[in-house]
Amino acid sequence: MDIATPQTTAQAVSQKMSAYAEPLGYEVRNAAVKRFVAEVADLCQPARIVYCDGSESEYQRLLSELVSEGKLIKLNETKRPGSYLARSDQSDVARVEDRTFICSERKEDAGPTNNWMAPQEAKATLKGHFKGSMRGRTMYVMPFSMGPIASPLSQIGVQVTDSAYVVVSMSVMTRMGKSVLTRLGDSENFVRCLHSVGMPLAAGEKDVAWPSNKETKYIMHFPETREIWSYGSGYGGNALLGKKCFALRIASSMGLKEGWLAEHMLILGIESPRGEKSYFAAAFPSACGKTNLAMLIPPAAMPGWKVTTVGDDIAWIKPGEDGKLYAINPEAGFFGVAPGTSLKTNPNAIKTIEKNCIFTNVALTMDGDVWWEGLTDEPPAQLIDWQGEPWTPGCGRKAAHPNARFTAPVTQCPALDENFDKPEGVPIDAFIFGGRRCSTMPLVFEAASWQDGVYMAATMGSETTAAASGQIGQVRRDPFAMLPFMGYHMGSYFQHWLSFAQKLPVDALPRIYGVNWFLQGEKGEFLWPGFGDNMRVLQWIFERVRQRSSARPTEIGLMPGYADMNFDGLEGFDEAAFAKLTTLHKELWAQELALHESLFESLGERLPETLAQKREELLKKFS
Ligand code: GTP
Ligand code: SPV
Ligand code: MN
Repeated sequence: MDIATPQTTAQAVSQKMSAYAEPLGYEVRNAAVKRFVAEVADLCQPARIVYCDGSESEYQRLLSELVSEGKLIKLNETKRPGSYLARSDQSDVARVEDRTFICSERKEDAGPTNNWMAPQEAKATLKGHFKGSMRGRTMYVMPFSMGPIASPLSQIGVQVTDSAYVVVSMSVMTRMGKSVLTRLGDSENFVRCLHSVGMPLAAGEKDVAWPSNKETKYIMHFPETREIWSYGSGYGGNALLGKKCFALRIASSMGLKEGWLAEHMLILGIESPRGEKSYFAAAFPSACGKTNLAMLIPPAAMPGWKVTTVGDDIAWIKPGEDGKLYAINPEAGFFGVAPGTSLKTNPNAIKTIEKNCIFTNVALTMDGDVWWEGLTDEPPAQLIDWQGEPWTPGCGRKAAHPNARFTAPVTQCPALDENFDKPEGVPIDAFIFGGRRCSTMPLVFEAASWQDGVYMAATMGSETTAAASGQIGQVRRDPFAMLPFMGYHMGSYFQHWLSFAQKLPVDALPRIYGVNWFLQGEKGEFLWPGFGDNMRVLQWIFERVRQRSSARPTEIGLMPGYADMNFDGLEGFDEAAFAKLTTLHKELWAQELALHESLFESLGERLPETLAQKREELLKKFS
C-alpha cells in the first residue's frame, strides 16, 4: 500500500482515523489531504495530530512550548526581539548528500550524479523506519504554498512532521496555513511531504533538546508521484521539505515535464542612476555568496545604483506570453549562512535579522544575544558556543558552527524588491553563474551565445563548503550549482536548458555570464574585494545587456578590459591588479577541460551533442 494513493478506499480511511481522536486545529475538507494524514498517522502512530493554521498565535504558542521544553532559547528581548536560538545535535548540522536519493522508477532517470533506489524498495525500507516513529510526539500537518498563493507559477505541498522546530521554521520560510487549503480546494495536486526526526518517545521518556536519529537518515524523493519522505534529521534542507526537496528536486522534475526551470538561484533587481531597471538571476553553490549578492549595497563611489532583493536561494522560471523568462522566489524567508555575515559584508542581512529570527547553531553572548565568526572584528571575551559549552577567544574551537544559519522573513529585508510578491514574477535579463575557485576562472565573462552559456554553467566547478556534511575545500563539478539538488538525469537537464534557445525568441533570451569572486593570490589572499564591490561587475553586465559597454573576445567568451569597468573609489586597484583577475592561463585551462571531459563521460548518451562539440572547440582554442 502506498501512502495517500487515490486507490485507498474511504472505508479504510475512516477505520484508520478511528484509531485517533479527531485531529486538532480545524476541519479539513480536502479528501486527499485527509487520506494522506490518516495513512501517515496509521504508519507513524503519533500521540496526537494537529492541523497548523499558520496564524501568529499558533507561531507564538509553538515558540513558547519549544522554550519550555528546552528546545529553543529565548534571546534578550531588548537586543533581539522575538528571536530564538536552537542548538542541533552534533551529528545533525548540514544536508546529508550521501543519504539523499532520487527514487524514480528507472535508475537512468535519476542519472549518474544522484543516489538512486527503486521506489518500492525505498518505501519498504522507510516504512520500516517510519513505523511508530512518531510515538509519544505530536504530528503537525502543514499545508504550504511555494510561491505567492495567487501565482500561476506556485505549487502546493502538505508536510507532516513531528518537529515543532520544523513547523516554526516552515512558517517563516513558506506561506503556510489554512489559506493554502482554500486555494487547493478539492484538488489532489499537492506534493506529499513526510518528515520524522526518527526518535519516538516511550511513555514518560524525557525528550532531548534536538531530537534526531544518529544512526539512520534518509532523504527520499519520488519525482513521478511527487512525494518526499525524510527520516532522521531535523536540520535545514533535510527537514524543511519545501526548500531543497520540493522547490528544487521535485520541482526540477516538474519543470522538465512542463517546460519551466527550478534553479538554485538568487533573484535581484538592479537600478541605474538613470532610473532604468533589470532583474538578474544568479546561481552559486551552497555558501558561495547568493545571500550576499542578493542584498548587495553598492559602494559609496557608485551613487544612484541600487540593488533590490527578490530571493536569495531558489528561483522558479517560466516563459511568459511575451517570450521572456519570468522568475518567482518560491520562498517567504531566508535560511542564510550566519558566519561571515556582518555590517561590513552584508548590512541588509544584519538589518533583516534584527528581530523575529530563529538562529540555529550560532554562539550565545553572556547578555543573551548571538555571535558568530566574522560578525565583529573582535570576538567577545566570553561566549557559550553552539554546543552550549563555555567559549573564550583562545580556546581553539569555533564559537558558531560553520553552517550555522538564521531563519528570517523576507519582509524584514530593507532592500526587498517591490515586485517580490507579484504573481507573474519578474523578467530576467541575465543569468550569472559562479563557483568558488581560487584559480582558473576569471572575475567575469560573457558567454558568446546561449549554447556557450549552457556549456559554461554545465561545467562549473566549485570548492565544497560546510553547507553539506563531508570534506570542505575540494573542487568538484557542480553543474548550474545544482549537483546536490537535481531531481533527474543531469544530461537531460542540460538538454532542457539548451531547448530554451528553440522555444524563445533570440532577443528575449537572457545573456549568460560567469563570475568568480574567490580568486586568490600567492599568499592565499582574495584578489578581488568582493561583497559591495561586486556591484562593479553587475554594472558591466547591466550595460552589456543594454549594448552600452564594450568587451574583447577571448577563448571562453567576452571579457571587459580595464577601461570597460567602473573602478571609481577602489583604492590601489590598478591595471595590474585587474590583469591578475582576468588572465586565462593555458596550463590551468588544459587541466580544467580534462575535468569537463570526465563529467561529460559520466553522463553517457544523455550528454547533448552540442556540449560535446563546444568542448572540442575550446580544446582547439587552448591548444
Ligand atoms: P546557501 O544558503 O548555502 O545556498 O548559500 P549562499 O550562496 O546564499 O551563501 P552566502 O551568501 O550566505 O555565502 C556565505 C559565504 O560566502 C560567507 O562565508 C561569505 O563571507 C562568503 N562570500 C559571499 N560573498 C563573497 C564575496 O564577494 N567575496 C568573498 N571573498 N566571500 C564572499
Ligand atoms: C544550501 O545548502 O544550499 C542551503 C541550505 O541553502 S539548506 O536549506 O540546508 O540546503
Ligand atoms: Mn542553497
